[in-house]
Amino acid sequence: MKQSKGWDIVSKILNNLKENFLFAGNYILSISVTILISTLLIYFIIGANLKLFFVLALFYFITSIIILNIVGSKRKREIENVKNIINAIRKNSFETPEEIKLGKYLLELEGEIKAMFLRTKNDIANLKKLEQVRTEFLGNVSHELRTPIFAIQGYLETLLDGALKDEKVNKTFLQKANQHTINLNNLLNDLIDISMIESGQMKMSFRYFNVNDFFETLNLEMKPHAQQKGLELNFQKVKPNLQLFGDKEKIKQVMVNLIMNAIKYTEKGSVEIGVTDESKRALIFVRDSGIGISERDLDRIFERFYRVDKDRSRSVGGTGLGLAIVKHILEAHGSKIEVKSTPGVGSEFSFSLKK
Ligand SMILES: Nc1ncnc2c1ncn2[C@@H]1O[C@H](COP(=O)(O)OP(=O)(O)OP(=O)(O)O)[C@@H](O)[C@H]1O
Ligand SMILES: [Mg+2]
Repeated sequence: MKQSKGWDIVSKILNNLKENFLFAGNYILSISVTILISTLLIYFIIGANLKLFFVLALFYFITSIIILNIVGSKRKREIENVKNIINAIRKNSFETPEEIKLGKYLLELEGEIKAMFLRTKNDIANLKKLEQVRTEFLGNVSHELRTPIFAIQGYLETLLDGALKDEKVNKTFLQKANQHTINLNNLLNDLIDISMIESGQMKMSFRYFNVNDFFETLNLEMKPHAQQKGLELNFQKVKPNLQLFGDKEKIKQVMVNLIMNAIKYTEKGSVEIGVTDESKRALIFVRDSGIGISERDLDRIFERFYRVDKDRSRSVGGTGLGLAIVKHILEAHGSKIEVKSTPGVGSEFSFSLKK
């Protein structure tokens, strides 16, 4: 029993030594060579005799073991410390990088680990934010889809329940159901655009186009909408040869969105469209005399699904995706949408394109 206890202690020490030597592995050769050279130097300086040689050899052997053991155990502690820190980072135990400490000899490694910690923390925060945005987006999409589908369902059920034969309402119900299918179709198109833009699949085809021709087409398409609301739609005169650089179809989508907004959110007065010619770029603007937008909402109207007055927008068929699409398209042109607005007076949206 006693003997085995003694043996246990010896084997523990030997194991410990073996482990320390393993950790000192990198230094074994350099430390051994240094001690061997210094021992030989002493041997030759003091005088060569066999006794001295054996004493120095013994000294060399013991010193090497002691130094390697010290170096090994120190390295073992340092590596264990690094291991513990990495485990703690994995378990999210640190709040700030200052909690990570490796001691004064490993400051560089400490800096690297701190940087890695900060990056991982940022990545995780970004992923959480993305996840939240995605959930919110899906929630909004399902809500917006549900509204027209329920309305269509309602009208169809009422018609089937007998209203079909009621001359006073049957046509109106069908027209309303039809309007909701148009809204649904617009919403799906907007969603497809948003997803194409965000996945980088929206193909752009940049070319010079003539602004006069462009405005003429827009005027023809938009005039009936303005007339329906009793609004004036004025396209200001543009130099006949003014050419701008961009994807004409996508810029048309931008203009349709801005002009439709101007018409939707204006009760009386006019909508003015024009160009301010500058030296290298030209600024296109859409100005209305409508309800305007408060300072508080101005920053948010470009967010997906954001509407200042949800009920009002929905009643005019808006889902709050238009300006988000406008912003993305203009960013793809290296441009930016600007807005100035005074509640009760009107709004002006503008952006510039290369000449
Ligand atoms: N010219 C404007 N005058 C007043 N408010 C505006 C004007 N343009 C946009 N807004 C406000 O900004 C919100 C966001 O506009 P956006 O075009 O993104 O959505 P929408 O017109 O409601 O719906 P969609 O364009 O998707 O059909 C609108 O709901 C409206 O409240
Ligand atoms: Mg809109």
